[in-house]
Amino acid sequence: MKCDFIITTVGLLVLATVALGLENGLARKPPMGWMSWERFRCITDCKKYPDECISEQLFMRMADLMVSEGYLEAGYDYVNIDDCWLSMDRDASGRQIADPTRFPSGIKHLADYIHSKGLKFGMYQDIGTKTCAGYPGMKGFFEIDAQTFAEWDVDFIKIDGCYADELEMVNDYILFGELMNKTGRPILYSCSWPVYQEYNGIIPNYEILKNTCNMWRNWGDIEDSHSSVETITRYFSDNQERIQPHSGPGHWNDPDTLVLGNYGLSYEQSKSQLAVWTVLAAPLLLSNDLATVTPEVRSLLLNRQIIAVNQDILGIQGLLVKTINRIEIWKRPILPRVKDELTQAIAFVSRRADGAPYAVSVKLVDDLGLSNSTYIKGYDVIDLFNADRKPFFVRADSHFETRINPTGANFYKFVPKLNIILRGITDIDN
Ligand SMILES: *[C@@H]1O[C@H](CO)[C@@H](O)[C@H](O)[C@H]1NC(C)=O
Repeated sequence: MKCDFIITTVGLLVLATVALGLENGLARKPPMGWMSWERFRCITDCKKYPDECISEQLFMRMADLMVSEGYLEAGYDYVNIDDCWLSMDRDASGRQIADPTRFPSGIKHLADYIHSKGLKFGMYQDIGTKTCAGYPGMKGFFEIDAQTFAEWDVDFIKIDGCYADELEMVNDYILFGELMNKTGRPILYSCSWPVYQEYNGIIPNYEILKNTCNMWRNWGDIEDSHSSVETITRYFSDNQERIQPHSGPGHWNDPDTLVLGNYGLSYEQSKSQLAVWTVLAAPLLLSNDLATVTPEVRSLLLNRQIIAVNQDILGIQGLLVKTINRIEIWKRPILPRVKDELTQAIAFVSRRADGAPYAVSVKLVDDLGLSNSTYIKGYDVIDLFNADRKPFFVRADSHFETRINPTGANFYKFVPKLNIILRGITDIDN
């Protein structure tokens, strides 16, 4: 018996090590920050568009705003360059170089500037022969590029998968990850190979993903519209049984950037994207012009209670659990745990566009799957989009009613409340 126990324990330890994934210590919570692609794309004409072109000025301006507008303080700490930063040619020694007119001070200088603000610095490259926008990719240059990123003090790297051989792609991502590891600099590794495989009808190998990458793009690029947000959301709910188990501390599914603060989403639709991304434990990377975000949308992005749900240390990705009359109910377990029951963050996401706010009434046990344990008397409900509203108590055996604006979302936290009679024998974590 004793011998069996030891063998089993050793077996479990080995399994546990494998299942833990990439061990660079990064992304224990979903990464937060800012990234250029969705808003600024590949604007390279700095004469015509001086405030929008992909240039050191843009990233310095955004870094300043990350601090002055309160984003850094709220937890958004990465400033990431996406595509179109490169010069069309490598230098004589094969090193990648930034476009000299748009990045005249060089990348190391930009990294130093961003670090001096207390922020972290992210960059972009591609595993194939070219980046998606046609700049020189890394194929054939993995070692020197890994070395260069480390010398530039890069903290985050997104590696895209355009112009890559489908059969070599995964091994190339693994190899580049190993080469980055060898530089000795911990660099958060964001991979894109699942998107390319999914588009070709291939199911990604999630065990390899977890052991290679800190996060990965599951599906296509987000655009500045509610329908784009809905399409990505639908991919995540349609495939949730398959992809949800693989997300967790150190390795996250990534539905792409938040587009709040741009042209395409109404205020209600902004709440919808933020609520769904929070339930999905998604990285919160903003892609907008921080200078023109309205105060209303800015306060959504800086909502401390919602950020705390996104950053919950259990790191469990939530699920679409029910749809009632085109109101989707999304649920994510978070701390605190009361007795054996976790708190639940629950978003009611409207797929309705018909006229008036739509009321749904749900049973806590049957519809929301909340416990009817004798230890739990009910729930303290916190309205996450209305920070001023006092928490209110709802009995476990009762209904909960909420009214959602067209295309919007309501978002609550249900904190289990102990049956007072039993309090003497119970305990609360965190
Ligand atoms: C490199 O990998 C090893 C083994 O997984 C890990 O312990 C170490 O922290 C990694 N180093 C960096 C810089 O990522």
